[in-house]
Amino acid sequence: MSSFEFDNRVVSGMRPTGKIHLANYHGALKNWTKLQHEYECFFFVADYHALTTGYGDTSRIDEYAFDMVVDWLAAGVSPNSCTIFTQSRVPEHAELHVILSMITPVSWLERVPTYKDMMNRLNDRDLNTYGFLGYPVLQSSDILMYRAGKVPVGADQESHVELCREIARRFNHLFGKQTKFDTKVEEALGRIDKKASRRLDKARREYAENGDMDSLERARALLLEQQQLSINDRERLFGYLEGGGRIILPEPQTLLTETPVVTGLDGEKMSKSYNNTISLREEPKELEQKIRTMQTDPARVRRTDPGDPAKCPVYSLHKLYLEQDQLDWAANGCKSASIGCVECKGPLIEAISNEQKQFHERARPFLEEPHLVRNILTEGSENARAEAKETLEDVKAAVGISYR
Ligand code: TRP
Ligand code: SF4
Repeated sequence: MSSFEFDNRVVSGMRPTGKIHLANYHGALKNWTKLQHEYECFFFVADYHALTTGYGDTSRIDEYAFDMVVDWLAAGVSPNSCTIFTQSRVPEHAELHVILSMITPVSWLERVPTYKDMMNRLNDRDLNTYGFLGYPVLQSSDILMYRAGKVPVGADQESHVELCREIARRFNHLFGKQTKFDTKVEEALGRIDKKASRRLDKARREYAENGDMDSLERARALLLEQQQLSINDRERLFGYLEGGGRIILPEPQTLLTETPVVTGLDGEKMSKSYNNTISLREEPKELEQKIRTMQTDPARVRRTDPGDPAKCPVYSLHKLYLEQDQLDWAANGCKSASIGCVECKGPLIEAISNEQKQFHERARPFLEEPHLVRNILTEGSENARAEAKETLEDVKAAVGISYR
């Protein structure tokens, strides 16, 4: 069974590696600011994930986490619209990770494409660790903890969500048969009125005995009407309706995020490790300086040489920031050499700095009073933890280690 009743939940995390740059923004963060209004979102600082590759130097994690969350807030992610928290402050993530690690075959992990990739790419450090191999299990815990329906990731992380689904399936298969769950189901049943509860029971029997899908659908609709039920109670009752193998950890879906090519200052892909980034909150002077000196089509040596926008790294930014008429102006001017690069870069600088103005404004109160950021994370972590505790209770009960 799918996790359709949690389709409305989204979980995503980012490693605290410092300030957000424009590739992070266009590839993920901007999408978060939209998702928070469409889904019930949990966004977290993936500090344990940072340790999987960065255990050799942990001196700046705190600073990086702060800068990153200020950027989230600056971009418009709001604690009023979503839950913002720190992974390590919800210790249930580590607990679920341990439990899931017991049932995850090593071969599944070795087959994850990013495993060998990153191993080769980050060859300045020793990644032959247990934690690095297991990092997709940690990511699975992050997702399954909130029984999220949707996980927004770029194509590069799709294999991780797929692995998460396999782990969930295996967990449900192994542990969905025991029935320690029943007291919780009973409590949940007690929270709906007698009449509805009787109709539910009748439908459940019809489904169990005759496989009558209509009854199941009717019962589900009935549950969805029960406003007083928490999301977790409803999930339990959905499981109860279906009987047999219970779904303790529903399988999430990938919500594929378009990740546009964002070129860095040197014409390579924008990335922190290439030191070619434009950050989300550049000082206006710096921003102008960076774009003025940014690599253009190498064919335009002199002002009179025509160029090709398709070969110009700056033009890839134009496409992200400018309207069609300005794009046409730039492209035509470039090809006919009727404008120079300095002129061509003008509207781009203006568009980015206009956007960044509001980022600076939103960030200001948090920079002036950093404790506001800490408060958001503390409160968010408490809220996330309340959800996480519920899941872990169910998980432990299913595994048989709840000792009640
Ligand atoms: N693995 C992601 C990264 O390295 C971050 C991440 C951790 C994440 N847990 C997650 C993303 C859960 C989505 C859902 O960038
Ligand atoms: Fe790039 Fe514009 Fe210069 Fe053409 S004119 S090379 S598009 S900056």
